[in-house]
Amino acid sequence: MIVIKELNKTIGEKTILRNVSLQVDKGDTVGILGPNGAGKSTILKIIGGLMKPSSGTVKIEGQKIKDNPLETKKRIGFLAHNSYLYDHFSPLENLKFFGKLYNVENCEVKAKDLIREVGLTYFMHEPIRSFSRGMIQRLAIARAIIHDPEILILDEPHTGLDQHAVTLLNNVILKMKEKGSTILMVTHDFAQTVETCDRIVIMKHGVILDDFKVTNPDVDMIYEKYVEQVG
Ligand SMILES: Nc1ncnc2c1ncn2[C@@H]1O[C@H](COP(=O)(O)OP(=O)(O)OP(=O)(O)O)[C@@H](O)[C@H]1O
Ligand SMILES: [Mg+2]
Repeated sequence: MIVIKELNKTIGEKTILRNVSLQVDKGDTVGILGPNGAGKSTILKIIGGLMKPSSGTVKIEGQKIKDNPLETKKRIGFLAHNSYLYDHFSPLENLKFFGKLYNVENCEVKAKDLIREVGLTYFMHEPIRSFSRGMIQRLAIARAIIHDPEILILDEPHTGLDQHAVTLLNNVILKMKEKGSTILMVTHDFAQTVETCDRIVIMKHGVILDDFKVTNPDVDMIYEKYVEQVG
């Protein structure tokens, strides 16, 4: 379970998050929607331990990240705007590097399986510097899940993906969901949200405006709720 309490973030004069509290149960798949600059990426970075809040707490299974940073981070897979991949490495080298960092068993086999799953087998040994944006994103997805994280944090994961890769990513998400992972996803894509999420949180100006369960995959309903809150 992730418990976020009264999170505030200010940078200089700017308030980015205002007293945000949120509880996400184990196995929940939550979609976070909101306009540009709402604070969505900021909240994900704080949950993932990539950024410190100005005040407030985040607890994962009762533990604060700062009390046990390495152990807590091992439980999290993070797909951010930045791919965190090494340009001069091939897909296999990149995944092996991250796999070793997280002490993944049978790292090479796992890496190759994931490369196949994201459709990059043909490019497995090519340095990624020449890869297209969508190819990088495919590999970044594999990197985020190489250690079978209990919590998967996805910041606009569908960006840059072609139709085939979108289906592939949704299947990855659904598979992680079946395994019982908790998933937090920021997206601007309402259709993808209803495909995978069972709860939606709407944010604007660093505040949560709405938080509801998705009972049937109805994009229009989400669109209406969004317009009602965000305008
Ligand atoms: N390092 C920083 N220094 C100053 N301001 C920042 C910094 N990082 C983020 N911000 C500001 O915080 C606000 C929220 O940013 P954030 O990236 O969380 O938004 P977002 O909801 O993810 O938006 P988008 O949909 O465009 O990705 C923005 O107004 C942004 O300018
Ligand atoms: Mg963002």
